[in-house]
Amino acid sequence: MHRRQFLTALGAFGASGLARAVEYGAPLLAQAAQETRTPDVIFVPTPNDVVSKMLEMAAVTARDVVYDLGCGDGRIVIMAAQRYGARGVGIDIDPDRIREANENAARARVTGKVKFIQGDLFQADISEATVVTLYLLTELNLKLRPKLMHDLNPGTRVVSHAFAMGDWKPERTEFVNGASVYLWRIPPRKA
Ligand SMILES: C[S@@+](CC[C@H](N)C(=O)[O-])C[C@H]1O[C@@H](n2cnc3c(N)ncnc32)[C@H](O)[C@@H]1O
Repeated sequence: MHRRQFLTALGAFGASGLARAVEYGAPLLAQAAQETRTPDVIFVPTPNDVVSKMLEMAAVTARDVVYDLGCGDGRIVIMAAQRYGARGVGIDIDPDRIREANENAARARVTGKVKFIQGDLFQADISEATVVTLYLLTELNLKLRPKLMHDLNPGTRVVSHAFAMGDWKPERTEFVNGASVYLWRIPPRKA
């Protein structure tokens, strides 16, 4: 594993990072060979009870369009579609993740509700989202923050698993089995 990827993995796994980063090292090497650009953070799925809490905190309904930026296996938008009837879009830079997410959506019978796009989340058109979900890293959240503020409509809910947004204080913070979940709302535009 390259040094930068290793450090990124450590960051993603937090304090208990070393063992889990090594455990995930082999798949990371295999996947890096196929990618157009190295992911900013490796794939680690959000546990389903945490996904559940994220959607509950965002108060997702059938009227929502949920975007998961760095969607992995698609579980967040799939649960949003299955449980709440929401429309969902997942964006991931890794084509293997997009393939997996499409297979999972077919298995869950929500292909009419969800769409998965391979691409860089920092370049994506996210303007139609009413809910954005994240499980990235604090430094990536901070890099993404100006785009969220610029592209999203006021009132759009942003939910992050594990990682905060610097001095943008969350409206609500919850804890599920040791994992923190943060909720923000895009503020009204300044006149
Ligand atoms: C920690 S996983 C989270 C997966 C999913 N959101 C979840 O919570 O279960 C981060 C995902 O972000 C993807 N990723 C990393 N950098 C990206 C980028 N610049 N654009 C799009 N996806 C990216 C990785 O491929 C990985 O699947």
